[in-house]
Amino acid sequence: MNWDDTTDAAPAAERLVDPAAERLVDSAAERLVDSVADREDQAVEAALRPKDLNEFIGQEKVREQLDLVLRAARARGATADHVLLSGAPGLGKTTLSMIIAAEMGAPIRITSGPAIQHAGDLAAILSSLQEGEVLFLDEIHRMSRPAEEMLYMAMEDFRVDVIVGKGPGATAIPLELPPFTLVGATTRAGLLPPPLRDRFGFTAHMEFYEPAELERVIHRSARLLDVEIEPEGAAEIAGRSRGTPRIANRLLRRVRDYAQVKADGVITREIARAALAVYEVDSRGLDRLDRAVLEALLKLFGGGPVGLSTLAVAVGEERETVEEVAEPFLVREGLLARTPRGRIATPAAWAHLGLTPPRSATAGNGQQDLFGA
Ligand SMILES: Nc1ncnc2c1ncn2[C@@H]1O[C@H](COP(=O)(O)OP(=O)(O)O)[C@@H](O)[C@H]1O
Ligand SMILES: [Mg+2]
Repeated sequence: MNWDDTTDAAPAAERLVDPAAERLVDSAAERLVDSVADREDQAVEAALRPKDLNEFIGQEKVREQLDLVLRAARARGATADHVLLSGAPGLGKTTLSMIIAAEMGAPIRITSGPAIQHAGDLAAILSSLQEGEVLFLDEIHRMSRPAEEMLYMAMEDFRVDVIVGKGPGATAIPLELPPFTLVGATTRAGLLPPPLRDRFGFTAHMEFYEPAELERVIHRSARLLDVEIEPEGAAEIAGRSRGTPRIANRLLRRVRDYAQVKADGVITREIARAALAVYEVDSRGLDRLDRAVLEALLKLFGGGPVGLSTLAVAVGEERETVEEVAEPFLVREGLLARTPRGRIATPAAWAHLGLTPPRSATAGNGQQDLFGA
């Protein structure tokens, strides 16, 4: 067995700007269960976004807290505190930023960390804000250092120093900003430097959604898309949506297509099941790639431990694809574990694929020998 590639049990997720992940996002965009928006998502999401806090489904704690923050600011006639939204892609961060602006009756300006290459880019945006405007900074963890430092001052004192000229002759011209609300979004709250994190008055952690909440999302979207859906059909889609509204909405659209072509357009449980079988999204939301990884781990390596590179070769994929595209969900679902000795399958993985684990594989924690294999 290959032991040389097992030292990376800590995932590569800690890299700040991750070109490999960027490429993967592109190549994985065709996956039905990808939580990052593809072109079609972007086109339809505007129509599906809840417009105010009442319409926003789930995330009860976040909604309640945010409601208080915004109400209090409105009552004071003040601009709301800066808000940081953290959570996985597709959980509603962009939607919430727009809701914050709508609830405050304020315009919103949308930009993102990667779009701000130089401090000057940020200065240009900040200096053109209106009083009370919401500035939505998506992927705030990917902003450049100099821009970040300018942002500290802007958030705290509503002021920036604009540097004019170069070299020894350069001078800093202070510029007053109107009060504004920064809404930052990040998938990696842990990567934000503490001074930046501390400057947000309110931080909301978005959790994955419960199936019942996703059912409500699906019913709501079906209404907006003018699709007829039965409760069992919605439940079937919700269970395969990986806790993510964006995926739920995407699966709904694919099932709708199937229902229109193969049936009378109504989404029943049977139609949802048949459609998602065609699209290879299984009962737990695993797709072809996820299942291939799991199957290789179980059938070829007896449930592991096996090194990442070996596993990747076995499924004919890049290491990074296995590690960054397939594994995070498998780990989250408790189907696969990363250990210092390699990847191992959990008992739930055997059960999910309907296979019986060999007696020695069930311990899965390096203590197999104790059970006398
Ligand atoms: N709580 C929610 N209720 C209803 N729809 C939601 C909710 N959260 C997200 N969505 C839907 O999911 C899609 C993705 O949401 P978005 O705000 O773009 O996620 P993020 O910015 O976190 O990636 C949008 O189309 C939105 O309509
Ligand atoms: Mg977003």
